[in-house]
Amino acid sequence: MLKGKHIILGITGGIAAYKSVSLLRLFVKAGAEVQVVITPAGKEFITPVTLSALSGRPVISEFFTANTGQWNSHVDIGLWADAMVIAPATASTIAKMACGVADNMLVTTYLSAKAPVFVAPAMDLDMMAHPTTQRNIDLLRSYGNHIIDSRAGELASHLVGKGRMAEPEEILAAVDAFFESSLTMKGLKVRVTAGPTYEKIDPVRFIGNYSSGKMGYAIADEAARRGADVTVVSGPVSVSPSEPGVKVVRVESAREMMEAARREFAEADVAVMAAAVADYAPAEQAQSKIKREGAEPPVIRLVKNPDIAAALGEVKRSGQTLVGFALETDHEMENAADKMRRKNLDMIVLNSLRDSGAGFGTDTNLVTMLTADGRSKRYDLKPKREVASDILDQICALR
Ligand code: C5P
Repeated sequence: MLKGKHIILGITGGIAAYKSVSLLRLFVKAGAEVQVVITPAGKEFITPVTLSALSGRPVISEFFTANTGQWNSHVDIGLWADAMVIAPATASTIAKMACGVADNMLVTTYLSAKAPVFVAPAMDLDMMAHPTTQRNIDLLRSYGNHIIDSRAGELASHLVGKGRMAEPEEILAAVDAFFESSLTMKGLKVRVTAGPTYEKIDPVRFIGNYSSGKMGYAIADEAARRGADVTVVSGPVSVSPSEPGVKVVRVESAREMMEAARREFAEADVAVMAAAVADYAPAEQAQSKIKREGAEPPVIRLVKNPDIAAALGEVKRSGQTLVGFALETDHEMENAADKMRRKNLDMIVLNSLRDSGAGFGTDTNLVTMLTADGRSKRYDLKPKREVASDILDQICALR
């Protein structure tokens, strides 16, 4: 579950900091990207050189990098993270977190982070047992943080009691289990529109577009892998689902897609509008093939197609999550945010035509996700299967 996840590893000044090196290695081995944030006291126990070599990123400790004056943005790091893990967490850091004393980069990042936070306390037994510490840990728990309880055993002081940090393997397992349980889609009905629509001109001709359906089918497959009940309402495509459980309702025109999507949406928990629906359709369809021999080339009058995403947005109930896509060429963020509002979407996935490797027909995509609460997150260029996974992670986080 940790593959590709962004994890902030917060290290504070306790003896157990030496175990953070093993924890960092385990995270990296599991495929996570790790940004270490260490308190000044933490650096007395473990060197940033070791940590940056193992994480492949400079370790952050100060608000400013002394030699360059570069500002380390706690807000950016906080938003980048999928999880923050503070191990070891000393009594002092726990107290600062509980009270919001943002006098170092670690606590400041904690206050900015939107992601789930895991805290692995480690200290001497009497400090741990003190009512102040216990009250602070209870406070952190009551704010929704996940406390990975310390263990009883021999401590650095040679006293025996509760206060040993949980082993790195246990911490890794706790974070992994959290992602697994929060990302499952068991019991959810996921409906996806995919592919282009064909708008008939006559029995042999149509107006269509280059959409391959790959992105929509990748989302459907990934939702099925996560245990959801999945149906794709699909325009004409050559791809098919790779997961056996995915049902496909085949349609051709935007009107047919609208009808099927309305029916499917009635019972959906999550609907992702990944189809490239034609904006216009011929006002009339010739019943027989239009002949070339006519005096003048025919004029095809177009009429507007229904907006499926907007129609579903109008009937959306609480508990239903509606997600759309935007393909923009200019003022991308503003246009995408505006589209999300107009169509009453909970999230919009923006892919820019300016980025090579993104959009129609390709096997990769480069996206930015905007959510209705005003947040946005830009992702790297990735295979569509991984983009699908990122999209579903975000959807799960919204629900
Ligand atoms: O308005 P625009 O076409 O840019 O919006 C794109 C989003 O709206 C996509 O999620 C697309 O699937 C959806 N859409 C739709 N019906 C239309 C047009 C767009 O569902 N007629």
